[in-house]
Amino acid sequence: MRMVDLIDLKKNNHSLTRKQYHFIIDGYCKGKIPDYQMSAFLMSVCFNGLTMSETVILTDEMIHSGEIINLKDIDGIKVDKHSTGGVGDKTSLVLGPMIAACDVKIAKMSGRGLGHTGGTLDKLESIPGFNIQVCKADFIKQVNEIGIAIIGQSTKIVPADQKIYALRDVTATVDSIPLIASSIMAKKIASGSDVILLDVKYGQGAFMKTKEEAVILAHTMIEIGQRLGKDTRAIISDMNQPLGNAIGNALEVIEAIDTLKGEGPQDLLELCLQAGSNILVQAKRCQNEAEAVKLLKQTIENKTALKKLRTMVDYQNGDVNYIDDTDLFKKAKFIIPIKAKKGGYVKEINAKALGIISMKLGGGRLVKDDIIDHSVGIVLNKKVGDKCDKGDVLAFLHGNDEITQELIEEFYEAYKIVDFFVKKPILIDEILV
Ligand code: URA
Repeated sequence: MRMVDLIDLKKNNHSLTRKQYHFIIDGYCKGKIPDYQMSAFLMSVCFNGLTMSETVILTDEMIHSGEIINLKDIDGIKVDKHSTGGVGDKTSLVLGPMIAACDVKIAKMSGRGLGHTGGTLDKLESIPGFNIQVCKADFIKQVNEIGIAIIGQSTKIVPADQKIYALRDVTATVDSIPLIASSIMAKKIASGSDVILLDVKYGQGAFMKTKEEAVILAHTMIEIGQRLGKDTRAIISDMNQPLGNAIGNALEVIEAIDTLKGEGPQDLLELCLQAGSNILVQAKRCQNEAEAVKLLKQTIENKTALKKLRTMVDYQNGDVNYIDDTDLFKKAKFIIPIKAKKGGYVKEINAKALGIISMKLGGGRLVKDDIIDHSVGIVLNKKVGDKCDKGDVLAFLHGNDEITQELIEEFYEAYKIVDFFVKKPILIDEILV
């Protein structure tokens, strides 16, 4: 078999066989296929797409490029949740403990943030001492004992994706639905859970710009999951404005803790209840969504979810005093209120632009090895649909370097205030089963 012939076949929109995908993935991982040939192949996929069967085969071949985590030593149904990424998305920090407090086991491997989107691991590491590098045996032990662990993804899982994603990043081949779907699902399936709930986001702050694209991506991932033996569902949610009010690592952990105390923003809670109720039904913990929502709400009222978070932090060597008293989190040196230049209603908040501002404040990475500042970020005081008067605080910028006028102007550009009534947007559009 020759790679050049397979590129030619894909260029002419032919479907490839399992043997041919095995040749490509195995050959690329072993260094037998060079980057330039793989790039040409990926570009052909971007233009011509893949059939559903090809997408499933590609995912399966990627899964088998590395270690597959076996969670059979954890009793009961294991669940996982994945968000396609956004700004201010701290759902895992709230939802994970809520699920575990309902006696459903959540064994989660998370990633770091890159560019304008944040990552769960970076957020957790703003708790002093928190350890994300847990070996497999301790991971399994922890989930068995307390029902939850959130750790860093092992580099042994889906090595094919690590290599291919780095290449896609520099060859303009990221935005292909079969490539995104196979990349995400290979990692989720190799991580070993029985049940997967996907939160597929659309909008300015997300990978998918439109709801229609998000629905196609979600259907593709559900089909991959079902064909490879995992109970997979998806919710489609709006990322045209940040989720919740806080953007930035420690600021988001504080907001997550507030939410677990019943004092968090409504949109974040709504997303957690919707995602959580689907998970509890998928895991057969509840018969229906209404029963699941009731149970999830109880975990906040009786503080069992907050206690779960505290226990997880304790197991992973984090300082639990920070959970008990969020005032301990280091504050940024400068906290600047940004005031509305005119009155009206907030029509738009560009999530991507705010993600970039938070990154420029030091809260995110431009490249993989950048060091991040956990204390900086943005706290919003007004969201889309809110009324504001001239001089009202729209948000606070938190920075350790003096905050420049240029950055403040960038912030104003991201906020659109109009002089007519604006309805609050709908956060969750669809649930796909
Ligand atoms: N996230 C992934 O893990 N892979 C993609 O291709 C896109 C987003």
